[in-house]
Amino acid sequence: MLRPVIYKQTAVDTCLTAICVADTHRGRGIGKQLVKSLELFLVDLGIRAYRLETLAKNNVSRTFYKNLFFVEHETRGRNVILVKDLCSDPNQC
Ligand SMILES: CC(C)(COP(=O)(O)OP(=O)(O)OC[C@H]1O[C@@H](n2cnc3c(N)ncnc32)[C@H](O)[C@@H]1OP(=O)(O)O)[C@@H](O)C(=O)NCCC(=O)NCCS
Repeated sequence: MLRPVIYKQTAVDTCLTAICVADTHRGRGIGKQLVKSLELFLVDLGIRAYRLETLAKNNVSRTFYKNLFFVEHETRGRNVILVKDLCSDPNQC
């Protein structure tokens, strides 16, 4: 079982397993739109942070997520774990 990811003293259980856009359709904003739609759904559920893993050597993926305001939380083996805080105003969450 995955060792818990602790972010701001809280275990981040919600996980995005993978996103894949067909290579013929990349670079058109589809990936960004998928992430935004997911986040609207998560906020509706009251979830304030989620995580994902990507291969450390996948620079396209790392740039993609960093530009969507994920933070690189830690490295585990070949993977980097990124976390996204969905709570823009801590007083409201
Ligand atoms: C990562 C992936 C989902 C991005 O999807 P996409 O639809 O091409 O991405 P978008 O067009 O929405 O791009 C959003 C931002 O990501 C960044 N980005 C996307 N592709 C990039 C590339 N090849 N190089 C650098 N930055 C890139 C850019 O900042 C871009 O914003 P901009 O267009 O305003 O500059 C897609 O490349 C993919 O499916 N890759 C294979 C699977 C994978 O690695 N998934 C991620 C691990 S789970």
